[in-house]
Amino acid sequence: MPWHNHCDPLRTKRTSSNLAPTMPSQSVVKASNASFGPAYVPVAIFVGGTSGVGQGMVEAFARYVQGRAHIIIVGRNEHAAASILARLPKPASESTSAEAEGWKHEFVPCDVSLMANVRAACAEIRAKCTHVNFLVLTAGYNSWYPAVTSEGLDLHLALRYYQRFVFIQELLPLLQAAQALFQDAKVMSVLGAGRGSPKRPIDLDNLGNTIKPRNSRFSVALRSLIMASGYTDAMLAYFATRNPKIAFTHIHPGIVRTDALRSASSFGGLLTPLSWIFSFILPFFAVSQDESAEHMLYGLFSGERGLFIRDRYGNVVSQLVFDNTVELGDSLETSVLNGVPMLGYGASDLGVRRIMEHSVTVTR
Ligand SMILES: NC(=O)c1ccc[n+]([C@@H]2O[C@H](COP(=O)([O-])OP(=O)(O)OC[C@H]3O[C@@H](n4cnc5c(N)ncnc54)[C@H](OP(=O)(O)O)[C@@H]3O)[C@@H](O)[C@H]2O)c1
Repeated sequence: MPWHNHCDPLRTKRTSSNLAPTMPSQSVVKASNASFGPAYVPVAIFVGGTSGVGQGMVEAFARYVQGRAHIIIVGRNEHAAASILARLPKPASESTSAEAEGWKHEFVPCDVSLMANVRAACAEIRAKCTHVNFLVLTAGYNSWYPAVTSEGLDLHLALRYYQRFVFIQELLPLLQAAQALFQDAKVMSVLGAGRGSPKRPIDLDNLGNTIKPRNSRFSVALRSLIMASGYTDAMLAYFATRNPKIAFTHIHPGIVRTDALRSASSFGGLLTPLSWIFSFILPFFAVSQDESAEHMLYGLFSGERGLFIRDRYGNVVSQLVFDNTVELGDSLETSVLNGVPMLGYGASDLGVRRIMEHSVTVTR
């Protein structure tokens, strides 16, 4: 039987779209997460689980299931992965082997900046698993230096958006297999949810950020950073309309003390003093990766199906559940999905279609 969502009063009040979120405390969030106890051994993939928010999520997830899960960390840093995996709790039962129980903790190395690598990693995952319950995507990139990959993709978009698109596309059959077993089937992209507004439509004339001139360093990088959030909304909306029984969540982690935050506040050149100011101020606002991870899991464990835009506490900013598959139309209205206004959602129906066509073509 599937594990059902928590039924605490805070959560049940937020089942319809566009409600003002409340801020659950760490103790509420932890108590809620601690009630996660599926009858089956969950399969969870953490792309970007070697550090930052992803690491925090791997560690908390493993704690809540007492290690009884098939956990796969995807990233480049094998040493970090080995040390995280070694420290994860292992199920108490010594009498039954991990193989018999179905739990396993492992690493799949992958530099996700190249889509060929992502496809190879997905093939490896498909060889290891018959189904996937949780696909958590946190790997990212924060730099003010724009670049283009050897596959011709904008590096920011490759690391923040395209690789996530390919992971979902390639692992979708495994999520569908989990759903067919009546188990959880959930995808979460930790990035920049809630930034969309009708005033900020996606630029459909510069798809991929490789069409307009790229000579101004900051503005090119900034364009990619903003684009990645809207593209993620569009992509998750697309997958949600095509897979109405799976949950697709775009969430914002808030300001978190990670390497990404250090790179994002490192400007270099004449702006170096600004970096000093940021590095002094930001720690006062930032939370630890463990604190953020609890809120991310709170969002991951709730909402059985549909599209969810969530804030840094894991609360729903907006959501839409589909009863059947939906073919989106030609509306250019931003923050409206299939005729339903969605707070913080950064795409339009036509935008979803264009971004999907573009993503399929350039990641092929
Ligand atoms: N921290 C914040 O304040 C903040 C604020 C807003 C949004 N975000 C977004 O939230 C997400 C999670 O944040 P974070 O701070 O934990 O992220 P992060 O520091 O950017 O990412 C850490 C993870 O990304 C992986 N990664 C980076 N480049 C990779 C590559 N080429 N191939 C494979 N893996 C790669 C790293 O693994 P390896 O080192 O093993 O490769 C590491 O596990 C990111 O998308 C970030 O942009 C963060």
